[in-house]
Amino acid sequence: MTDASSTPAIPVTIHRGDYRPPEWQLPDIALDFALGIDETRVTAALSVVRSADAPAPLTLRGDGLTALAVRVDGEGWNDWRMEGPDLVVDLGDRTAAVVEVETAINPAANTQLMGLYASNGMLCTQCEAEGFRRITFHPDRPDVLSRYKVRMEGDKALFPILLSNGNCIEKGESEGGRHWALWEDPWPKPSYLFALVAGDLVVNRDEFVTLSGRKVELGIWVREGDVERTSHAMQALKNSMKWDEQVYGREYDLDLFNIVAVSDFNMGAMENKGLNIFNTRYILADPDTATDLDYDGVEGVVAHEYFHNWSGNRVTCRDWFQLSLKEGFTVFRDQSFSADMGSPAVKRIEDVRLLRAAQFPEDAGPLAHPIRPDSYQEISNFYTATVYNKGAEVIRMMHAMVGAERFRKGTDLYFERHDGEAATCEDFVRAIEDGAGVDLTLFRRWYEQAGTPRVTARIESDEDTGERVLHLAQAVPATPGQPDKAPTLIPLRIKAFDLDGGHGIEEERLVLLDRGEMAVPLGHYRSRPMLSLNRGFSAPVIVDFARAGGELAWLAAHDDDPFARYEALQQLMLDTLVAAVSGETVDHSVVIDAVAQTLGGRAADPAFVAEAVLLPSEAFVGDQMVVVDPDAIRRERLALQAAIGGALEAEWRAILAETPPPAAILSRKAKGGRRLRGVALAYLAATGLPDTPAVAFGIFSDADGMTERQAALATLAHGDSDERVAALDIFYQRYRDNPLVLDKWFQVQAWSLRPDTVDAVRELAGHPDFTLANPNRVRSLYGALTGNQAAFHQADGAGYRLIADLVIALDPKNPQTAARMIPPLGRWKRFDEARQTMMKAELQRILAQPGLSRDVTEQASKSLL
Ligand code: ARG
Ligand code: ZN
Repeated sequence: MTDASSTPAIPVTIHRGDYRPPEWQLPDIALDFALGIDETRVTAALSVVRSADAPAPLTLRGDGLTALAVRVDGEGWNDWRMEGPDLVVDLGDRTAAVVEVETAINPAANTQLMGLYASNGMLCTQCEAEGFRRITFHPDRPDVLSRYKVRMEGDKALFPILLSNGNCIEKGESEGGRHWALWEDPWPKPSYLFALVAGDLVVNRDEFVTLSGRKVELGIWVREGDVERTSHAMQALKNSMKWDEQVYGREYDLDLFNIVAVSDFNMGAMENKGLNIFNTRYILADPDTATDLDYDGVEGVVAHEYFHNWSGNRVTCRDWFQLSLKEGFTVFRDQSFSADMGSPAVKRIEDVRLLRAAQFPEDAGPLAHPIRPDSYQEISNFYTATVYNKGAEVIRMMHAMVGAERFRKGTDLYFERHDGEAATCEDFVRAIEDGAGVDLTLFRRWYEQAGTPRVTARIESDEDTGERVLHLAQAVPATPGQPDKAPTLIPLRIKAFDLDGGHGIEEERLVLLDRGEMAVPLGHYRSRPMLSLNRGFSAPVIVDFARAGGELAWLAAHDDDPFARYEALQQLMLDTLVAAVSGETVDHSVVIDAVAQTLGGRAADPAFVAEAVLLPSEAFVGDQMVVVDPDAIRRERLALQAAIGGALEAEWRAILAETPPPAAILSRKAKGGRRLRGVALAYLAATGLPDTPAVAFGIFSDADGMTERQAALATLAHGDSDERVAALDIFYQRYRDNPLVLDKWFQVQAWSLRPDTVDAVRELAGHPDFTLANPNRVRSLYGALTGNQAAFHQADGAGYRLIADLVIALDPKNPQTAARMIPPLGRWKRFDEARQTMMKAELQRILAQPGLSRDVTEQASKSLL
């Protein structure tokens, strides 16, 4: 049966160094499904071939399965036993056999959403990483690749659509209102890429002709009524297919590419061969229900999953320690794609903001791990910002060091060498070395070492000669299990601006910091040059650089790299906030002037300006402090926001007085314009001027799309006005039947800066529309709360208790999603003693629960170290 109690009580640690090649290969698999919501019968015929020299038992992994029958070469077989959840078949000295196993599973009872489960009356699968073993007994490791033939049969009324990987080669009707389909995938694949969908779905059909003229049928399958909201996803898919041909020379390799959207899904989406399965939130979008950011999310995730067809499927991972091989590379690919589709500068700002918000804290805490981890208890816990986003930064650095053209030579070689194989991170690095002609010996430390490197920079000036030297030093902090770190290779893009007519180096340079300390001659300048450092965030590091007064403001105004302008203004804001929180009297006017100056560019590039003038988040301010003071940070950030709001009131009002671009227009400029209006409204509202609730309510009511509507609602949700109550009610009534929009209704309330947000969240958890069964809903309420620093860290510990209660209630149903709520509690070391004590007590309370999953046990116990 598919329940959580099947997971062992004492977690076993798996080590990367223990990898052994499989003893049996499975060239072919035939699966037969007799489909039912409460009972699905699965017959698996595995043709196995021994690869070990000596006889070895065939171990087939299971999770909550019972073998109803075992046959070998067509005959009943008794030489098998259960070893815990696994099935071990003794095949004597045979070197090949067909092993047939029958199992029965209950998709309706599968609340973990791993394996085969029911969602809204349809059946679907999620097998990565180890979900296939919840469907049938199988080695279920990514280095065992097979050709799949899948037959499924079910009630035609319940399941009119039957889909699996590859091509449908036959279908037919059978007795009792049933029908069947036979699917075949010609490409050998690991079990984690298997997928099956059965349900009442409608399709948006299109086609794409590949580089070599292959006509590919495209289908996006959704529930009746949702098909109108799939056009953006379809366009994104076609753009991705074209982009991968142009930029990486990668062509699609089947005649059919299907995507199915499901509402109950643990993650964003899954790249199953020829049959991607998506969380609805990354497929469905129309101007009335989706914000511009939602649109970008759809485009990025559609591209990500499509790109996996090469970086992940054609070349897959040898074992799960290599996860970043496919995820880091694929995130880098989807980031580059989105940059090409929109604004490269804004995309880079967003990606860096996400890295700093999610990955830097992870790397600085008890759950820090290298992008290629050395050990795990539950692999689901390693689908992290480190493996994905730091992994992408590591690929980006290689790209930066060798340039686009040579990088392409490296990836061409990688795909050529390893097509059809299960590869390692080391294989990738070696292909880049050989293809691009570069030595990455030292660079490999990025795969081995956890922790965000810190680069210290200082300019030494010889006032007589005018010579200036940049002194750089690097240090990687200690992380759990890695007390001592070695220097790595850090590529830093730099440029020096001369304000005084000297003769310095004016061109951008790539400095390779390849030792603990290094001196970089900058040239001769009459006065200290303005140094732009780590431009474009060329390395994912923290830079400590004591700036002279006025430098950051100058760079914010004049640097020719937009990312560097953004970075300078952020640093200026950050310095001001940190000083204020530390009790210094601060002068807001430097920041106000810089914001005013940046706003001057809004006509040319509103999207960039909107990003640049946003204040750093409360959490990011906290990350700069030895002991985080959430209340002081909130107070000082609101004070700065109000000061900017008041000083530039006329500008904000002028922006809001302009007619917003129609919601259906998704051009870069239109999106930027809307984003800037949202920022303007937030600054204006921060002033507390009496007319601001009415202004926000006006925007909320007049909005012709979700971007403006949600921005206005979120602004109102911070306050205490009658308009807040009215807007929340109108929004709820209008969208109560649309789950994705209802998520926003929960989310804006959990994001609120109101002092009673924790109580509000507790109350919302009892709302009839709240459910633990849907991961999106859980994240929209509780995930939003943990991102709301001052609320989550409320001094009485109520935020901590609420999250621990959630973890305890959710774990028996959905351990994967429960475990994802734990890391915020694990950041206790950064807080005062009273908060530390309460946070640890909640982690201990979680660990004291009987029957805890492996997922939650690992995260909670490691979080206490
Ligand atoms: N490979 C998927 C992606 O595109 C993520 C799947 C993760 N699933 C899981 N159960 N951990 O990133
Ligand atoms: Zn992925």
